[in-house]
Amino acid sequence: MGVKGVFITFEGSEGSGKSTQIELVCKYLKQKKKPILFAREPGGVKISEKIRSILLDVKNKNMNSECETLLYMAARAQLVEEVIAPALKKGKIVLCDRFLDSTVAYQGYGNGIDIRAIKDIGKFSTQRLTPEMTIFFDIDAKKGLSRIKGRTKDRIERRAISYHNKVRKGYREIARREPGRVKLIDANRTKEEIFSIVQKHIDRLLK
Ligand SMILES: Nc1ncnc2c1ncn2[C@@H]1O[C@H](COP(=O)(O)OP(=O)(O)O)[C@@H](O)[C@H]1O
Ligand SMILES: [Mg+2]
Repeated sequence: MGVKGVFITFEGSEGSGKSTQIELVCKYLKQKKKPILFAREPGGVKISEKIRSILLDVKNKNMNSECETLLYMAARAQLVEEVIAPALKKGKIVLCDRFLDSTVAYQGYGNGIDIRAIKDIGKFSTQRLTPEMTIFFDIDAKKGLSRIKGRTKDRIERRAISYHNKVRKGYREIARREPGRVKLIDANRTKEEIFSIVQKHIDRLLK
């Protein structure tokens, strides 16, 4: 693809601190005058935001797991084409809140969709784009959910704790299999402590 930029993704369960840390990283890199682009999944562009609303709508109770998987992939394909790939071509640092690992964790490990199939469809959907680095915030599912108690829960967040435990296990398995790319951070620390670890990973990657 002739990629010149750097692609970094942030992963972890609900309430693990992805949004909090991405915001801090954005501020940090802006101060350093680095060209950055922030994106979030599912969504980020008009078509993908429409798909997001279908995915997260609590009224869609009978959506099957295959449909769910493919909708996440469809939203991702559009985001890659419209936003992520062009930004990388321009040499930007792209920071994305969730990416393909989320589908492996939630639909694969969480919902039992074949992981090999997810990875194959993933390659097709993302034009084979893989993050240079993925920062994974690891937290007990219950603890993560308790941090977002106040929020209105979407279709996925409403699932049983047993589901969220499987998702966490899945993420840990992904990190175990790809230790070079995936940096596991214990999210049971203060925001500041976590950020100082995140910062070290970012600095090492960008130097
Ligand atoms: N390290 C932390 N310790 C305690 N609370 C945190 C920490 N990081 C984030 N939070 C709080 O937990 C909630 C969820 O954080 P958020 O960054 O939105 O998580 P995510 O984007 O992964 O769902 C927010 O209210 C946030 O202020
Ligand atoms: Mg968030």
